[in-house]
Amino acid sequence: MTPIYEGKAKRLWATENPETLRMEFKNDATAFNGEKKASFENKGRLNNEISTLIYGFLENAGVPTHFVRKIDDTNVEVKKVTIVMVEVIVRNLSAGSYCKRTGIAEGQVFSQPIIEFSYKSDELGDPLINDDYIREMGLATPEDLVHLRKSALQVNAILTDFFAKCGLKLVDFKLEFGRLVSDPSQIVLADEISPDGCRLWDLKTGEKMDKDRFRRDLGNVMEAYAEVLGRLKANS
Ligand code: TMP
Ligand code: ASP
Repeated sequence: MTPIYEGKAKRLWATENPETLRMEFKNDATAFNGEKKASFENKGRLNNEISTLIYGFLENAGVPTHFVRKIDDTNVEVKKVTIVMVEVIVRNLSAGSYCKRTGIAEGQVFSQPIIEFSYKSDELGDPLINDDYIREMGLATPEDLVHLRKSALQVNAILTDFFAKCGLKLVDFKLEFGRLVSDPSQIVLADEISPDGCRLWDLKTGEKMDKDRFRRDLGNVMEAYAEVLGRLKANS
């Protein structure tokens, strides 16, 4: 069997149900658009558990997602979607590329969350784009964008609260959305939500508990992911 799609950290497989896929979490980690690569034992399992917990939590809070069920340690069943080729990034504090772009130091708290869009293209390195680019490139309609922003802010509010209960600050994160193949008028949250695509800082110590540990060679990468999972479990 061959996967129908293979990304940097996941594979998608067909299932017997034409409306769903199996999403497999790999142990691979990449950074800087795939320039830095490594593999971590248990990463697939940890991210699957974390993402499953978060998706369940969001579904319960009324956010429509692609999630169907967890299959096993490293696999979930998800509804088939056509991915909107726009990555939606939400920032509550300055970090990462925001700091690089502006020269502003890490850790500035924003008065309101910042939403930014990037074009989902590995070839181009996911460049920053805006509403006008998205409209002219035909990636999404202005109406779709209203929905994406609203949904991203809703997810931010829910997860900021949830992570705070777990002693974690949700600094920023990336979301992806997809149109249901069974009903393309419906755009749902897709992909994963894990420390790969979020920045999470310990509320007390400020310690980084996410993929920045890998990006910046801080060590104890999986220990941090396991700690995040432990805290999420303890608070759900
Ligand atoms: P950035 O500061 O590097 O732009 O990243 C913002 C957030 O988006 C951060 O939580 C990590 C996440 N992210 C991804 O999930 N995938 C990516 O390819 C990039 C660049 C960032
Ligand atoms: N996910 C991106 C990559 O693989 C970038 C990142 O998360 O830093 O390279």
